[in-house]
Parts: sequence; structure tokens; C-alpha cells
Amino acid sequence: MTQHRVHVPKTRRRLAALAAVSLVSALAVPLLSATPATAATPLRTLAAAKGKFIGFAGATGPLADEAAYRTIAQTEFNQITAENAMKWESTEPSDNNYTWSGADQIVAFAAANNQQVHGHTLVWHSQTPGWVQGLGATAMRTAMQDHIATVVGRYANNASLVSWDVVNEVFDENGGFRTSFWYNTLGQSFIADAFRYARAADPNAKLCINDYNVEGINAKSTAMYNLVQSLRAQNVPVDCVGFQSHLATQYGFPGDMRQNLERFAALGVEVRITELDIRIQTPRTSAKDTTQATYYTNAVNACLAVPACSGITIWGFTDKYSWVPDTFPSEGAALLYDENYQPKPAYTAVNTALGGSPTGDTQAPTTPSSLAASGVTSSSVNLSWTASTDNVGVAGYDILRAPGTSGGTFASVGTSTTASFSNTGLSANTSYRYQVRARDAAGNTSAVSNTVTVTTTGGGTGDTQAPSTPSSLAAAGTTSSSTNLTWTASTDNVGVTGYDILRAPGTSGGTFTSVGTSTTTSFSNTGLSANTSYRYQVRARDAAGNVSAVSNTVTVTTTGGGTGGGCSVTATVQTQWNNGYVMQPVTVTNTGTSAISSWTVTFTLPSGHAVTGQWNAVLTTGGQTVTAKNAPHNGALAPSASTTFGFQASRPNGDTATAGTFTCTTP
Ligand code: G3I
Repeated sequence: MTQHRVHVPKTRRRLAALAAVSLVSALAVPLLSATPATAATPLRTLAAAKGKFIGFAGATGPLADEAAYRTIAQTEFNQITAENAMKWESTEPSDNNYTWSGADQIVAFAAANNQQVHGHTLVWHSQTPGWVQGLGATAMRTAMQDHIATVVGRYANNASLVSWDVVNEVFDENGGFRTSFWYNTLGQSFIADAFRYARAADPNAKLCINDYNVEGINAKSTAMYNLVQSLRAQNVPVDCVGFQSHLATQYGFPGDMRQNLERFAALGVEVRITELDIRIQTPRTSAKDTTQATYYTNAVNACLAVPACSGITIWGFTDKYSWVPDTFPSEGAALLYDENYQPKPAYTAVNTALGGSPTGDTQAPTTPSSLAASGVTSSSVNLSWTASTDNVGVAGYDILRAPGTSGGTFASVGTSTTASFSNTGLSANTSYRYQVRARDAAGNTSAVSNTVTVTTTGGGTGDTQAPSTPSSLAAAGTTSSSTNLTWTASTDNVGVTGYDILRAPGTSGGTFTSVGTSTTTSFSNTGLSANTSYRYQVRARDAAGNVSAVSNTVTVTTTGGGTGGGCSVTATVQTQWNNGYVMQPVTVTNTGTSAISSWTVTFTLPSGHAVTGQWNAVLTTGGQTVTAKNAPHNGALAPSASTTFGFQASRPNGDTATAGTFTCTTP
């Protein structure tokens, strides 16, 4: 394998050791002959049906600032890795000075969008502040322990954060240990120590070792294999191995990737593709796009073929934000979407490999015209336009807005399936510019319409009366992935302009967030998970932007999807000693003919035994019976797919019995 990667070591000033440390090339994209088609079914839906996650490396800037970035992030992905926000220089830039804004932002976004978070990364030679690099051995080990305890501890009870890269990139290309400051100061013991500190800080998180150029079978991946085998033989809690997969079309695809993943899986670890991107030598051409798409297909297929592969994280999703051009001049365009958020053949490839059926249509809809504004108040405007036409049908319109009467950037403020849209929440006495573009069922987008400029009226003197509260909210026609809501209309002195549909997860707790709007008294919410409960409320908005109180709450539980969901369980004693033992892996397999979204394992503890640790499942003990429910990240299993969890138990001195009578049920 000859992938050339560059890690720029940071030159750091040595600080006095402390005894106790608490811790694109402006891508000229050519006009490609065809706009790639996208799929009706988002990647996350397809991946979940196969029992895998599909994720992206999230950058805090665009996640906060760009609606288009956020929309794809929440629609297409069910997993996030912080691209930079959880690295040491971000979380503890100076000794014991912790800064959480970026990390918390990533976790909050994931929680709001039902996504799992992979923490990246605790112990790495890069992006670690100079004050750490200059410490002596004792102080450095203490600094590492404190950092891990604090960072992992902060999210230990957070349901979204399920796994960590504990150590990152510890090998050189020949399979020797990288002579990083960690290794030079502490020797290889820092690796086992880091895992033990992480397990102590969060017994439930899956703990991973992560590296690049280990995708195929080679000297470096074999060194990784030997290390993981040896660490696990010493009961060091290594649960998972991450294969970064920063690939490049000019170096070929590692054709033995599947076999490599399989040999690691045989060690009993979870495997995952953690940082997938496939760069090309820019500029793009159709031929290069096609090769890249094939590589993406190969990578997804390798993970799908290995039950222990939990999923795939793409290192970003839009070529607008990618580390590649900064590191490899004249290379880039490595991701699924171009710099304008248009899906590339790589997207179609991933969608297809995950089982989607993107259409082959490449014809864009006609451009919407005659965009006009009416009913301007101090906080809202009604837009209407002449509808577009399309050979496969117009699926909807994106409404774009820029600030002021000139300059700024147009960003999406909403979508509409009709030729009108009401934009609310505007500031009084303020100018905005609007454009509209059409999307077809295959994801092709039209050119943008004419621009209309709107200036809201002065606030203060307008209508302040809220609409009456919508009532009798009810759900009907609930399937495994959708439900239809209806309610009784609100009334208002200046007219009801629409309704916000709010949803919270589960039957209690959580937060209600908007999942859509409607200008009628009904709404169909799609893309739901099977066998899952949701709560809905509705509120009305009027033309002046006043909102009503929320309606009654209706709770919906989706059906199981398909028929014949069921599961089986097998349990293995991994290690035991005089007064305790570890059972791992406890393997849960979907034995049914349809996907399951959750599972429950029960087993019996002999008298005097007690569970003292657990991972990848949530265990509760009642008498001698233990109930293990899936963790948030491993409940979804496709037919025949498996997942594993483990636990540790104590027992009376000399007792040689272990837990038994394992049974599995769904949900
Ligand atoms: O935040 C500063 C900003 O304030 C400053 O103005 C700007 C000027 O260059 O730099 C910004 O920091 C950059 C940071 O990304 C955030 O954008 C750093 O210079 C830049 O070096 C850093 O690059 C990151 C790189 O890791 C550092 O090694 C990439 O975004 C990130 O994608 C990349 O990710 C790594 C994984 O963590 C580990 N595996 C390899 C992968 C790719 O190199």
C-alpha cells in the first residue's frame, strides 16, 4: 500500500512538569455530463435496515452556520464523529482548563437528531497541546489519566455518546510503534493504560483503537492485529478497531479489506470504518467520479459483508469542507457531495450499496418563475411562484434566503411541496432576498428563480394576538415507518398561516422539536423507526408571526415492520478468576425475517453473584434475574445480523459457576 499521508507535528514549547495535572485548490469542477441522481431513501434509513450506522465527521462551524449542511447532516446520517472538537487541543488547551463548547455542540446536535456519537480522540500525537508533550513520564501519565477521566466522564451518562477512539495512530508504516512523544516518554504501556482509564471513566462506552493504512492486510495492519490480540489476552478493555480508510484512487482499492476486517472480527472485537474518504487528483472528470464511486461501493460492501462491522463514518460529506486539499495539493473532491451540496456519483454508489434504488434520472426540473411576495408583516412574508415541471415529477421546492438587499449568501430556510411558502420568524424593519429552486423525485435541482426583495414592516404596532390552540390532535394509519396526524383547525384575527409539527422521542422525557410544517390540518411524518414510540404536538402560526399554545399530545408507536422478528443469544466466558469472571461476547442475533429495532436478553445469576461492569447493553438486576436491553447504538439488527455485549460479575471465593439460562426476546 502506498498511500502517502502527512501529519504535521506540532512544535511545542516544553513546560515545567507538574506532579499532579488535572486535567482545494479552488476546485474548478468541470461541467459533468450528467447531474448524479440521488435517492428517495436517506442513507441512514437504508443503513439502519441493515443493522449498521452511517455517519460523518462533523465540523462545528457549518453545523452552526449553514442550513444546507445541517439538513444533509440530519437527514442522511445516524452517527457523528467530531472532526476536531473532541481532540485534546480543543477540550483541554491548557492544563486543567477544559473547554466544552464544540464537543457539547456536536453531542447536542446528535441528540436532537437521534444520532450516535463516536468520541475522537483521547490520546494522539497530533493536536495535543505543548504542555502535555513537554511533561516527564509520571506527570504525563497523570495528565493522560486526568484528561481521559474528565473528557470521558463528562459524557459517560449521555445516551448519544456510545464509543471512543482511545488511542489513535500508534503505528508507523512498517508496523513498529510510532516514536511519538507518548511512546518516547512512556513506552508502549501508555496504550493499555489509556484503555483502562477510559473503561474506568465509562464502563458502557465501546473503546476503540484507530489507525490509517490498515485497511488491507499489510505489515501495519498485522502489527495492529497482534497488538489487539495481546492487549485482550491481558484483559485490557479493547472493544473495537477503527480502520480510518483515507483512500485515494491513484493507489488502488485494498481488495483484501473484507478479509482483513474478518480476521480482526475473529479476535472478538467490533470493527468499523471510521474516516472514509476517497480522494482523486483534481479536477474532477466523469471517469474519476466513476472510479471513486466504485471504491465507495467496495468499502461499503466490505463492511456489510462482516457482521462485526458496526458501520461506516465518512470523513465529512461535502467537498466544501474536507481536510484533503489542505494536506495533499492538487487532490480532493473526496466526499459524497460537491461544494454546492449536490450529490455526486459517490453518493449514489453508497446509497445503492446500502440497498437503495436511486433512479437513473438526470433531468433537472424547469426553473420556477414569477416569484412574488405578499402579506408582509413585521415578522413574516408569504411567497408564491409559478410551478416547475419535470419528467419524473417535481418533489418539492427549496426556499433560499439571503440577508439585506445585496451581498451575503443564499441559504435554505425551508422546503415546500406546493408553489407557496410562508417564512416566519423574521425581524421587523429588515430586508431579505428570496429565491426558489425545484427538486425532482431523483434529487435533481433546477436553476434558481428570480430574486424577490422583501422589507418587513415596523414591529410594535402590528397584531399580537396568537391563534387559538389546535385541538383533537390524533394519529391514524401508523405503519413501521410513518404516521398520519390530523387536528382541529385554529382560528386567528389576521389568519392562520400554518402549523408547526413538533415531535419528542419515546413516551416521556426528551424534547419536542419541529419535524415539519403544514398549511392544512394534517401532516404525514415519515422516516420513523419500527417498533418505536414518538410523541407529537402541533401549534399554529398567524400572519404576524404569533404562535399559539401547543395542542394535546398524541403518542404513537410504530409497528414492527415485516413479520417474524425474533432473536437468539449465545454467551461465552472470556476469562475468569477466583472470585469473578467476564462474559464476552454475548452475541445477539436477529433470527427473524424482518429488521428489529430493539432486543432484551435475560439471564440468571447464581446465588452470591453480582454484575460489576457492563458494556454495549444496559443491565438491570432483579433478584437473580438480570435483564439486558440493547444500548442506543446496537438495537437495530437486520435479519441474520448480530451484535455483542459483555459484562463482568463477582462471585464468592472459590465458586466456579457462571451466569446461565440466556434468553432473547424482541422488542
Ligand atoms: O481552528 C483553527 C483556526 O482557528 C485557524 O484559523 C485555522 C488556520 O489554519 O486552523 C484551524 O485549525 C485547523 C483544524 O483542522 C480545524 O479546521 C488546523 O489548522 C488543521 O490542521 C486541522 O486539521 C485537521 C487534522 O485532522 C489535523 O491533524 C482536520 O480538520 C481533520 O480532518 C483531520 O482529521 C484527522 C483525524 O483526526 C485522524 N485521522 C486522520 C484525519 C485526517 O488527517
